[in-house]
Order: sequence, then C-alpha cells, then structure tokens
Amino acid sequence: MAKVLPPSRSTAAHTRVENASTILKRFYVAERQLMRTLAAWFVGTSQWDLKRQLSEDMWQTAQHADVLRTRVLELRYPRRDVDRKYDPDVLALLAEAAKATDSHEFIAGAYGVLLPALIAGYEAYLERSDPLDDAPTIYRLRHILADKLAQAERMGALARRVGGGDRAPDQTWRDYLRRWVDAIGGIDGLGRRAEPPTDHPCAGRPAYDVPRSVQRDARWRPALFHLPHENKYDTAGRDAWKRIEALDKRVAMQVWSAISHFNEIWAAEVPASVMWDLDGEPWAFYMDLARWSWDETRHSTMGWRALEGWGWDVPDLIPWANGLYNALGNVPARQRLALLYYYEEGLLRAGTKQIEIKILESAQDDGSTHDMDYDWADEAIHVNFGYTWLKHLLGDDKAGREELKRLTDEARQIMADFIAAHKADPEAQLAPYFDRLYPVVARMIRDIPDDGMAIEWAPVVADEQVLEEL
Ligand SMILES: [Fe+2]
Ligand SMILES: [Fe+2]
Repeated sequence: MAKVLPPSRSTAAHTRVENASTILKRFYVAERQLMRTLAAWFVGTSQWDLKRQLSEDMWQTAQHADVLRTRVLELRYPRRDVDRKYDPDVLALLAEAAKATDSHEFIAGAYGVLLPALIAGYEAYLERSDPLDDAPTIYRLRHILADKLAQAERMGALARRVGGGDRAPDQTWRDYLRRWVDAIGGIDGLGRRAEPPTDHPCAGRPAYDVPRSVQRDARWRPALFHLPHENKYDTAGRDAWKRIEALDKRVAMQVWSAISHFNEIWAAEVPASVMWDLDGEPWAFYMDLARWSWDETRHSTMGWRALEGWGWDVPDLIPWANGLYNALGNVPARQRLALLYYYEEGLLRAGTKQIEIKILESAQDDGSTHDMDYDWADEAIHVNFGYTWLKHLLGDDKAGREELKRLTDEARQIMADFIAAHKADPEAQLAPYFDRLYPVVARMIRDIPDDGMAIEWAPVVADEQVLEEL
C-alpha cells in the first residue's frame, strides 16, 4: 500500500488545463465565426437601427474572440496551434446560423439562440472553474459575459421596436438552431449530443454568402450617389449644391461633412464583406478589419446624429447612397479593399480633414468639429490597416506594388463605367435633394462675427483626377 494525505480539496470535472484550453478554443471558434457572420449580416441588413447595432456587436465579438484566443495560447504555451483544426461541429452550427432568410430571422437566431448558448457556456465555465488556478480566464469571461448579456437585451428590444416582432418563421428558425446547439452538446461540447436536425423544415438551405449588392433602409429613397463630386454628369445636382454653398462656405461644410459622414456606411460594408470573403488570414487581419468597419459605421452615425440634431427629416432630405458598394460588389475582396485604401489614403494625404476641421471651427460648430476630429484620428489608423494588409495580400515587393496599382486602376475604371452607365437614372440625380434642403438650411442660418477666414475648400476630394494629381 502507498501512503498519502487526503486530497487538499476536491475539484470539479473538466477543469484541468487541457480541458480548459479545449473548451476555450471552442468558445474562440464560435466567437470568431460569429464575428464574421455578424459582419456579413451587417452588410445584408438595410434597416438602419439594426444595421449599426450589428456593426457594434460585430466589433465587440472580435474583442471577445481575441481575449479567448489569447487565453488559449497562454494555457498551451508555447504551442501556437490555436488557429488550426477548428472544431468542425462548432463551425457547422455557425454555418447554419448564417443561413437566415432575412435580417429579422438572422437576429432571432443569433441573439435568441447563439448568444444564450454562449452565455450558458460561459456561466457553466465560471461555475466550475477554480477561482485561483484559472483566475485570468475568470476575469476575462466575466467581462465577455457582461457584454453578451447587454447585447442580447439591447438587440432584443431593438428588434421588437423596429417591427418584425416574433414572427412564426423566426420561432421555427430558433427551434432549428436550438436543436443544432443540442446536437453539438452545447458550445462547450460537454452536454449530451442529440442528432443533428436534418429532418427539420429549415434544414438543407444553401451556404450563406455576403450580398454583392446592398439596399438602404426603406425609409429613404433609392440613391446611387450622395454629393455632386461623385458624379461628374450631374450638372443640375452641382448647381443645386452651389446655391447652398452661396449661403456661406461654412454652412456648406457643415452640411457636406454630415452628409459625407452619413454616407461612409459603404466604407464599413467593404471591410465587413472582406472579412466574410477571406477566411484564412492571420487573426490580426480580422481584428483590424473589424475595427475599420465599425469605425466607419460610427462615422456614418456621426453624420446621421448631426443631421438629426438639426431637427431635419433625414430620409426626406438626405440621399443615402449604395452606388459605391454596389459598383464593386462583384470584384475580388482584395480589389475592394484596394479601392477603399486608395480613397482613404488620398484624403489623408491631401490634408482634407485638417482643412475641414478648420472650417467647422470657423463655423463655431462644436459637434461637427468634434466628430471630424475623431474621424481624423480613426482614418490615420485605417490607412495603416490598408497598407499592412494589402502588403500581406499582394506581397511586399515590386510585383506586389504593381499589382496594387493595377487592382486600384481597374477598380476606378469599374467605378467610372458604373457612373457613366447610370448617369441618366433618376436615382443618380441630386438636384431634387438639394432643392428640398436649401430652404430648410436657409431658414436656420444665423449670424456670427466673421473671423475673416479665407476658405479655400474644393469639395472634389474623391474625384479621381484630383487624387491623381496629388
Ligand atoms: Fe470614415
Ligand atoms: Fe476610414
């Protein structure tokens, strides 16, 4: 007989390091795929309130995945295999959750089944784990859990508020996904496994893909462009805009920056769609694109908030365009990213933001100045993201640089062809917007002491020829 002391204490099952890292890896895989799915459904959602919430939750989900991934690496140190051999059953569940038929169904499934399944997994982990031995995980999971609970509650309330309600198909869809969660034994994989619900009416849908063209919220009229510099054929739009500019260039800048910001939603859609299209890139790629995409949704929200702040009927007065995304929806992911980088880098290099901030300060518009200041801070990061990841995708050599130029030139030509093909479309005409807007703006303007600022602002910054000459 061997001699021993009694155990110092008893421990719960599934809490040794190997168990913990296996379970946390499953959580990571689920959050990683949920992040990409939220990104894709953000693109596929037109209702504005739901859309911007999906964007924020996508970025938070990226943070959650990152924290879990880091912890798996710590527990397995020095192993670096966290991004190999993703659990196929977790991937299968997430692939199913993406296959919703519309935004309301997707939200019903993602926030009504996936999030509760993740929450249950995190709560069970916290319940059984050793608060001393596994303290770094517990600290992180508690924060993730707080975010997830808030996300589920906020989106639930939002979905009820904007309509859609709890439709019968949503309940059927949730039932299907619940059976999938059971089939994999829960996200942690510790539960008893049921059969996958292949007999369910929702089974057998084709694989989901991110939309190649987008629509804007039904409250707005369809529009391809948002400001006259985009479409050189729209002379009536340009003339209508010049009336606003004639009031004062400060006024024009206030209106311009709000409309521009609001329409940056396409710059959020591009990186989000790339996150879906490219599935095998280094983890830092997704972290950066998640941030890039959410930042652009924030910029869009800045514009919307400013327009609302003036008390305007935004859907009636302001064009909300989809041409920039739709013109390039079918080109390869790297090419969409190349064009976005080209625009952002050009704007930053031209010093446009500084000029705009000075004019907004001269207008004594604290809110718009503040927005532009933070926008500028974000944009500097985005240019670095674009530079880093295009180098990664295309190669850091002469051939890579030539390919970047070729992709960008080709994309600009596709854009120019799109503009030419649609120049006569009613959706491409901006004069009706600015004619409606003019009296609204003119009624609201007020006098302030003239600071004598000589405003040299040419509102043509995204024009290809201007960028070419920089
Ligand atoms: Fe932006
Ligand atoms: Fe940006």
